[in-house]
Amino acid sequence: MRIKSLYLSNFRNISELDLDFSDKFLIEGRTGAGKTSIIEACYILFSGKSFKTTQLKECIKNEANNFFIKCSAEDIEGYSREISIGYDTEDNRKILMDGSEVRRKSLLEALLPVVHSSFDFNLITGGPKSRRDFIDKVCFVNDNSYLDDLGSYLSFLKNKNTALKNGNAKVIKYLNLAAVPLIKRIRKKRKETIEKVNQKIKETSLRLFPDITAFFCYNPGEDIEKKLEGILELELSKGFCLYGPHLDQINLNIKSGKAKNNISMGETYINSFLIRLSEIGIYEDLKLHPVFFIDDIFVFVDNETKKLLFDEIERLDNQVIMTSSLENLNKFNNIEKYYLSK
Ligand SMILES: Nc1ncnc2c1ncn2[C@@H]1O[C@H](COP(=O)(O)OP(=O)(O)OP(=O)(O)O)[C@@H](O)[C@H]1O
Ligand SMILES: [Mg+2]
Repeated sequence: MRIKSLYLSNFRNISELDLDFSDKFLIEGRTGAGKTSIIEACYILFSGKSFKTTQLKECIKNEANNFFIKCSAEDIEGYSREISIGYDTEDNRKILMDGSEVRRKSLLEALLPVVHSSFDFNLITGGPKSRRDFIDKVCFVNDNSYLDDLGSYLSFLKNKNTALKNGNAKVIKYLNLAAVPLIKRIRKKRKETIEKVNQKIKETSLRLFPDITAFFCYNPGEDIEKKLEGILELELSKGFCLYGPHLDQINLNIKSGKAKNNISMGETYINSFLIRLSEIGIYEDLKLHPVFFIDDIFVFVDNETKKLLFDEIERLDNQVIMTSSLENLNKFNNIEKYYLSK
């Protein structure tokens, strides 16, 4: 998959911008120039969602009534696609693919972005939610039925929370029993995916940074029926669900045994970056060839590490679009650069 060109109008601080991309492309610019906004716009075109906000309204340029973004891309199957999204202050969203209006799901089926940004530091030092979201994304790219399972699980949660609020223990027991196979399936898929991700991490990260490499670890326990039964009293007293895949701990173990709170910013950067590289490796095995967007490339790491990581980027067949506010990649001449002025 490739993105060939991008057009933005009234998106964040950018009034208008036309940009052509090459295979390895670096956007440079001063703080606040709009570099992350360009990546955010690409992400919205590829997924219908922002990675920065759940409120697309925030992306409309101050004092404008709507944004319009458009790209020309090559999809997962190699077909040329023209995609545009218009969004206005009244919450109207219009997605066009090759001139026809489509739903968000069609974007996800045709295009697949992988973004590394400072939000990914949460994968390492944050709570389990970002790791669950990451693993869930890889699960459903691997296996579309996972999305159906997650949807069914959310319905179960909604029904169970209603029953808990009403104090209806009989209904809850019935719902719990019916959900056990679903919970088992979700956890099994997560475990399989984590094994794959860890294998990819082993292939790159362990080779380059043996002392600080972090691996995912997930042990939700087997005895679901017993757990659900044991926690029921407490759930009834609280009035909401306290156990299940939506709350599972997915942890990271750093090989050296360092506590995750004790690792440096550079180590956090390296590990989060290598997790995204492992994600790309998994999608490559599925022949999905995602575009890799790297925001604020190589902040917090020394020159030696930059060289090692850049070698990994160069090795990728994927299109890679990077941003930097520093003259960070001066040494790496074989990438096309665009200077974004304020
Ligand atoms: N809706 C909006 N309207 C106008 N300006 C906005 C809007 N949303 C964000 N901005 C501003 O747009 C500017 C560009 O933000 P962006 O995060 O893209 O910059 P950046 O080039 O990535 O900067 P940095 O190097 O600090 O990461 C910021 O000054 C931000 O405050
Ligand atoms: Mg930025």
